[in-house]
Amino acid sequence: MGNRQDSKQGGLRSRAWFDNPENPDMTALYVERYLNYGLSLEELQSGRPIIGIAQTGSDLVPCNRHHIVLAERVKDGIREAGGIPIEFPVHPIQETGKRPTAGLDRNLAYLSLVETLYGYPLDGAVLTIGCDKTTPSALMAAATVNIPAIALSVGPMLNGWYKGRRTGSGTIVWRAREMLAAGEIDYKGFVELVASSAPSTGYCNTMGTATTMNSLTEALGMSLPGSAAIPAPYRDRQQCAWETGRQIVEMVKADRKPSDVMTRAAFLNAIRVNSAIGGSTNAPIHLNAIARHMGVELSLSDWEEYGADVPLLVNLQPAGEYLGEDYYRAGGVPAVMGELLRAGLLEEGALTVNGRTAAENVAEAPIENEDVIRPFSRPLLEAAGLTVLSGNLFDSAVMKRSVISDAFRRAYLSNPDDPDAFEGRAVVFDGPEDYHGRIDDPALGIDIDTILVMRGAGPIGYPGGAEVVNMRPPSYLIEKGITALPCIGDGRQSGTSGSPSILNAAPEAAAQGGLARLRTGDRIRIDLRQHRVDALVEADEWGRRGEEVEKAMAGFTPRSQTPWQEIQRGLTGQFDTGAVLEDAVSFQRIAQQRGLPRDSH
Ligand code: FES
Ligand code: MG
Repeated sequence: MGNRQDSKQGGLRSRAWFDNPENPDMTALYVERYLNYGLSLEELQSGRPIIGIAQTGSDLVPCNRHHIVLAERVKDGIREAGGIPIEFPVHPIQETGKRPTAGLDRNLAYLSLVETLYGYPLDGAVLTIGCDKTTPSALMAAATVNIPAIALSVGPMLNGWYKGRRTGSGTIVWRAREMLAAGEIDYKGFVELVASSAPSTGYCNTMGTATTMNSLTEALGMSLPGSAAIPAPYRDRQQCAWETGRQIVEMVKADRKPSDVMTRAAFLNAIRVNSAIGGSTNAPIHLNAIARHMGVELSLSDWEEYGADVPLLVNLQPAGEYLGEDYYRAGGVPAVMGELLRAGLLEEGALTVNGRTAAENVAEAPIENEDVIRPFSRPLLEAAGLTVLSGNLFDSAVMKRSVISDAFRRAYLSNPDDPDAFEGRAVVFDGPEDYHGRIDDPALGIDIDTILVMRGAGPIGYPGGAEVVNMRPPSYLIEKGITALPCIGDGRQSGTSGSPSILNAAPEAAAQGGLARLRTGDRIRIDLRQHRVDALVEADEWGRRGEEVEKAMAGFTPRSQTPWQEIQRGLTGQFDTGAVLEDAVSFQRIAQQRGLPRDSH
């Protein structure tokens, strides 16, 4: 039947299913089953685009559950513009509920969404996004299949409140843990305090991974301008759903595909926006993964080069004080991008889903509240991007500068001889169970001179990479007012945590990275100016330990509990390159390069 979709004259790819004169028998077979659902032959053969709505909300994913409501407005918009909506489920990924990690499921949801978008009669897709991993998995799949696609954020929850103060999702958990450890609240108070941060439907209302990735999706140009920050329950969110439905039909008519939008220029915009919003340390993992599936060159060094010097403008927890509703009212992503544009820090020509450029979308966007979104001239923090570090413990790791507190700076970074370097004694934990079991043991001798190390928490070791590198100090230190110690690890850190951590170390210990050679008692030197982290262990001894590790690891495979854990462990890359299924990357842009799938019968 040939590759009809490659030629513009060939029209919609759904015609190959529903109206293929070269194979009328198969057309009858395809049409029959969709008539069964209630669509008419007239509709199916009308030449209208069939638009898939990739539904990520469900009872298992409360963060995205409001998409079930929003999908009705998306359908209204699609029909209004002349399209036919078809909603289908996406493998559920909920960040806090999925054990051992939601990270494990990102690549699984990606794989299954690729098969769905590619293998069914869809001309375009609305990607419903929200909870942390639902966003990257959807964009990764859209990049691979490369049919017109637009993302719709579910939006953050309303602000949380407790006794007159804002309580933000995730962030309040770290604070509540400190209060519980210090005896300021009991367990009932702990639950009450944590639950106060989640007052409505929607995703985490802090600048955690969800708000970050939904903001970066807009910065990439993959969702409508101004759409990311709208709180889930607001009427504006429903209106945005309707507009998104209308827009995807226009995109199919214009043949505007992910490869037209997610260019290198778009990724550079997203990197800068990530610094300006104080985005999660999970962002480089996911954005690099999306770029690799799109076939766009993007590396961790780009994050340093383009993002490091961008100031922090958004005053949201955990780096600041406000929450999602405030972010929206202050102007959201367009206000931030408008400041970057005026500062000359935007790739102006990057095309977005609405057919306009990034610059055109945000040129007139005002900041409505300068306490929540600061003007570029009056930032919360200069140079707020990620620092990329390397040394004998890992080839790469990242550190988010915007969450390093003043107290931490005073304690650690104020050596007058060398203000950007410090040393400490390593206390090493093999996984979070080991940490929880021993952290309060006085025999470990943890004090202000200690650097806490977490290993065995990477994409292979955990598996999927656990958000466990942010470790609170022992209770006896918290009682003395020491609420944070520097942490290093091969896992991730929750985007809502405020501790000063060196994360995403690659290669991880389970891949025989340098962390596997480290022992409790070793001195570690962190030099932020030189971008180095090194164990101060003599070269001979370090080499000898390397041989030991190699022997110990021969035949060593962390025990898998499900088939997917085992499969993913064999195929995943490390955090620095997006922790993607390496075999999947070479299949980027399948719809263009490989044509349509063959008939099913
Ligand atoms: Fe789902 Fe935070 S846990 S958005
Ligand atoms: Mg998380």
